[in-house]
Amino acid sequence: MNTELKPEQNPRSSPERCRIYMQEVATRDGFQNESQFIETEDKIRVIISLSDCGFAKIEVTSFTSPKAIPALRDAEMVMHEITRNPGVEYTVLVPNVRGAERALSCGIDEANLVMSMSETHNRANLRMTREQSFAQLEQVVAAVSGSRVATNISLSTSFGCPMEGDVSEDEVMRWLERFAALGVMRATLCDTTGMAYPSQVRSMAARAKSLFPEMTFTLHFHNTRSMAQANVLAAIDAGIDRFDASLGGIGGCPYAPGASGNACTEDMVHMLELEGFDTNINLSKLMRVAAELPGLIGHDVPSQLLKAGARDRLHPAPDYVKDIK
Ligand code: COA
Ligand code: ZN
Repeated sequence: MNTELKPEQNPRSSPERCRIYMQEVATRDGFQNESQFIETEDKIRVIISLSDCGFAKIEVTSFTSPKAIPALRDAEMVMHEITRNPGVEYTVLVPNVRGAERALSCGIDEANLVMSMSETHNRANLRMTREQSFAQLEQVVAAVSGSRVATNISLSTSFGCPMEGDVSEDEVMRWLERFAALGVMRATLCDTTGMAYPSQVRSMAARAKSLFPEMTFTLHFHNTRSMAQANVLAAIDAGIDRFDASLGGIGGCPYAPGASGNACTEDMVHMLELEGFDTNINLSKLMRVAAELPGLIGHDVPSQLLKAGARDRLHPAPDYVKDIK
């Protein structure tokens, strides 16, 4: 199949400012991986601040087993206490039927179902086979259908597994097909441990979009090998307009060896705006929230923008410059 888009289909070649939908995941993908428990009231404060920055969607927390992810054991409390911005969709990660029941009692906008494309990572992360995951998620979809709650399927390790290695495009398409058959019309291709590279992303994204034109796709990158920003541009080349990203670049799956932070929201927004895209994000507001993160989590964050500032930040020249004749 020809996966190349014609220039006129490519948003990067469009003369108009093309909208990119930003979805913040720091309070789920980021906080799940912190060893020090982040106080519930701090989580709530961060989510309320993020709600005012222009995101299309915020992944608030996850309804996973508190034994598996103790950092997010306060999911109900967080969901109940946040003030919501009507322009933002609030989603939560759901691994099984029990998680869906808990999430639905909290008035979520979307249930973000999760399973892995690698059998080994699925067993490590979710303690079941992929077929068992699918059977659970099928029940979740049935429970949610007919309500106003949307479902999204996040396919972990879509671009490679740290234990099994390569994951084929065919395998990812096969699972997309199965979820599409259940009526799930939103899907996220996740690069859980930063194994994706631009030409792979371009090919996978273009094929997914051409096989499932009715589906809304999100790409979810981790910057483990410094390829996240390049992967974002490659995905846009293939027609993707929705990205997960994490404030400060924090994040990672505790059950994926070598996992590290997500694509950093402020770094991504800074790049995309310079490239002429409309992210709808207020970068100065976002930077103020990002600046609070190191204090909150007790360590430095990968964000480059937090260290360097935006490219219009100027520095005073040394005195001797004006003396050179
Ligand atoms: N929420 C709360 N508790 C849950 C739960 C959920 N969604 N699912 C299961 N539990 C509880 C059960 O009630 C049981 O409690 P008990 O020991 O007090 O009786 C216990 O957890 C074990 O249940 P079981 O069904 O055997 O689950 P498991 O131990 O096989 O774990 C998952 C399966 C999916 C619940 C667990 O692996 C998980 O939450 N994984 C999420 C991993 C993750 O979020 N990774 C990062 C994001 S990709
Ligand atoms: Zn992730």
